[in-house]
Amino acid sequence: MCGIVGYVGSPRRTKDVLCESLRRLEYRGYDSSGICFVENGRSRVIKSGGKLENLFSKLKDCEVTSSLGIAHTRWATHGDPSEQNAHPQVSGPVSVVHNGIIENYLELKKELVAAGYEFLSDTDTEVISHLICDFTEKGNSLLESARKAFDKIEGSYAVAIMSDTEPGKIIATRRFSPLIIARNAAEFFLASDIPAILPYSREFIFLEDHDFVVITEDGISITDATGEVVNRTPTVVDWDPSVAEKSGYRHYMLKEIFEQPRAILDTLRGRFTGDMENVVLEDVDPSLLRKTQRVIIAACGTSYHASLIGKYMIEEVAGVSTQVELASEFRYRNIVTGPDVLFMAVSQSGETADTSEALIKAKKLGMNSVGVTNVSLSKISRESDCVITTKAGPEIGVASTKSFTAQVMVFYLFSIYLAVLRKAIDSNRAKELIADAISVSKLQQKTLELDEKLKDLSKDFHSYKNFIYMGRGINYPVALESALKLKEVSYIHAEGYAAGEMKHGPIALIDRNMPVVFIAPEEDIYYRKLLGNFQEVKARGGRIIFITSDEDFQLPDERDRKIVIPKSPYLVSPMVSVIPAQFLAYHVANILGTDVDQPRNLAKVVTVE
Ligand code: AGP
Repeated sequence: MCGIVGYVGSPRRTKDVLCESLRRLEYRGYDSSGICFVENGRSRVIKSGGKLENLFSKLKDCEVTSSLGIAHTRWATHGDPSEQNAHPQVSGPVSVVHNGIIENYLELKKELVAAGYEFLSDTDTEVISHLICDFTEKGNSLLESARKAFDKIEGSYAVAIMSDTEPGKIIATRRFSPLIIARNAAEFFLASDIPAILPYSREFIFLEDHDFVVITEDGISITDATGEVVNRTPTVVDWDPSVAEKSGYRHYMLKEIFEQPRAILDTLRGRFTGDMENVVLEDVDPSLLRKTQRVIIAACGTSYHASLIGKYMIEEVAGVSTQVELASEFRYRNIVTGPDVLFMAVSQSGETADTSEALIKAKKLGMNSVGVTNVSLSKISRESDCVITTKAGPEIGVASTKSFTAQVMVFYLFSIYLAVLRKAIDSNRAKELIADAISVSKLQQKTLELDEKLKDLSKDFHSYKNFIYMGRGINYPVALESALKLKEVSYIHAEGYAAGEMKHGPIALIDRNMPVVFIAPEEDIYYRKLLGNFQEVKARGGRIIFITSDEDFQLPDERDRKIVIPKSPYLVSPMVSVIPAQFLAYHVANILGTDVDQPRNLAKVVTVE
């Protein structure tokens, strides 16, 4: 989704910092961009459609002598992705960049048109700049004007504002959309997320809803919704900036696939008791869980698939009934709740609008809540009663990979924790399960050796127009996730099915032109049944990629391919079996020449409905 950056500091660095920060926001998804800085005492706005290179080439010969500026990457919601609709949106002296959606913009637009304002874009954002301009013309300071404007505005927003009426100042505010600020010795930064400004600081202040911040060369001043000056405590992050770099890999996606063993180790670190008989979840209050009768999980996309695996784990290990919901459905439908229902909101970014709204709804319905996020101070982390963080580090590729396996590991830990708390398992069983968790990183490391093999295999499969992925049991959600990976990065149509469901309809699709990818670890408790499904596909001419740990399995047809993964304990097998499918999606996309890290139409952080 849209990304915002702002900088106040040295004129020599303004252009470079803003451009570098925009580049670091690219991963969120965008289709146009723009920048505003001061030139000869007046704001200069430069915008461009398409990739950042288009903006950068316009800026190439532009000497920026201003000590401050704001910039934006836009992901179109209202109005097409054109230069005209790119931000900053300008009204007289006022320039505004915005992330979010103004829900009452049509009403406000009518009022502003009646007051004589001419709209030059199709965006909802333009009402913000005109409203602020209107209030400044009525004699208000820029901060007062912004406050008055946002009193009238409904919806979600993170905005940064500059005005010729008060040069040398950036004003920013937020509601529902993330906005952080940071500083070092003599510079101040503003951004939608940490990776954008990670090279410049390690201490970040997460603004709260309705905070207003004024940034000048002299410092930062934050006021809350009531106008009171407030101190927001900075959070120190220990992310190494290189984690947000490609480090020699061609794409972030490939780098992040390779980071999975490390992400798993980090997610496990410090999370076992000394006797290795229980899990430690540092922020989880056991009194909230002890009486849990039922778990409801809500998430979107890849996080939803990880949650489906979580259901298998929680029911299998802790024996607690678990239901998994698409957050976008949960937030609107009638939910039948009951006593002692635990709600889990699962989100890599912790900012996904549908998931955070589902959390708000669950809390209103009286459920205790646990957030599972990869960003510790994200909205979902802050609004959940307790949080379990995945320690995958920043994930930049739009296609989630390392955050998926880290989420699955968190569910595994959670199911052990819940089981021990409810005395559903004894200490020997807990020890066995914990040993299996510890084995995952090495099993993944071994699986990563399959990269070249999958690269080679992709050459034979990239020209198919459709794929089916099949799995059973805990590997059924892996089939769903694998199909999503292929779809989003290669734009090839793919579907994931529970293999037992094939004969109820989808088997009609099978012919020589339909590759079928089986996620079939031998230790899967349904493995024998899956072999039956294999025969059904073979009998209808389908071409097969068989991902299995069964080295002895003989493929009957030379058109088919077998990928051998290491044998893993059943419950942790999804964290291993998904890796070849991630490679397959990556290499097919590469052959097809798509934009792997920023696939068309997609955004990394979906902060709008
Ligand atoms: C998958 O590769 C995508 N990145 C997408 O489906 C993603 O998982 C979804 O938008 C949810 O994001 P979240 O985990 O940040 O909430």
